[in-house]
Amino acid sequence: MKGFIFDLDGVIVDTARFHFLAWKKTADELGFALTPELNEQLKGVSRVDSLKKILEWAGKEIEQDYFERLMTEKNEDYLTYVERMTAADILPGVEDFLRALKEQGHPVALGSASKNAPLILEKTGLISLFDTIVDGNSVKKAKPDPEVFLVAAEQLGVPTGECVVFEDSEAGVTAANNAGMVSIGLGSPENLGHADHVYSDFTEFTPEFIVNLQPKRK
Ligand code: BG6
Ligand code: MG
Repeated sequence: MKGFIFDLDGVIVDTARFHFLAWKKTADELGFALTPELNEQLKGVSRVDSLKKILEWAGKEIEQDYFERLMTEKNEDYLTYVERMTAADILPGVEDFLRALKEQGHPVALGSASKNAPLILEKTGLISLFDTIVDGNSVKKAKPDPEVFLVAAEQLGVPTGECVVFEDSEAGVTAANNAGMVSIGLGSPENLGHADHVYSDFTEFTPEFIVNLQPKRK
């Protein structure tokens, strides 16, 4: 494999729980109890689409102004957690894995829906390990659309079939599969059974194993 594309939230850093806490507050304001099970469907999903889903589950229709305000408040709340982040928030095995790829000269990209991605990579000291960052500021179509990963592959100059994607979300694994890339699910096989391989974290496999995976044929 020649290109390595990492999702951010829930793959590199444990921010998925911060997104959950912030959305739970929004849902509470709408009189709806957001459960961890439903939250699985918000992972990897853009800010706008996440709020649309919550409103649908809550059976609410709201004015555009209020919609904008809820999104702003959710992000402000989320950022109170992000501001406190350091390298200690990097998930197990991720930094060693990234450094090994870098040392071996492999092209590495970020492929995230988040508009806060550069800030989080700065806070955790990982930004210099990425050759390119494709995030919520640079793509239009949200996962499960493959756009974010296709743009990342293009920027790395690697054919899609020779890219590996690391993802913790149902929507993200679907996006990687839709892009024709090898998908590595990080989490439980219950949610990520559609990935090519599923592991609980980066300590369960080696860079060598990933680099030597078979490319996908169209
Ligand atoms: C994804 C997260 O990475 O980014 C989602 O899994 C989040 O939970 C999305 O909604 C957008 O992130 P942000 O930081 O721009 O609100
Ligand atoms: Mg994620």
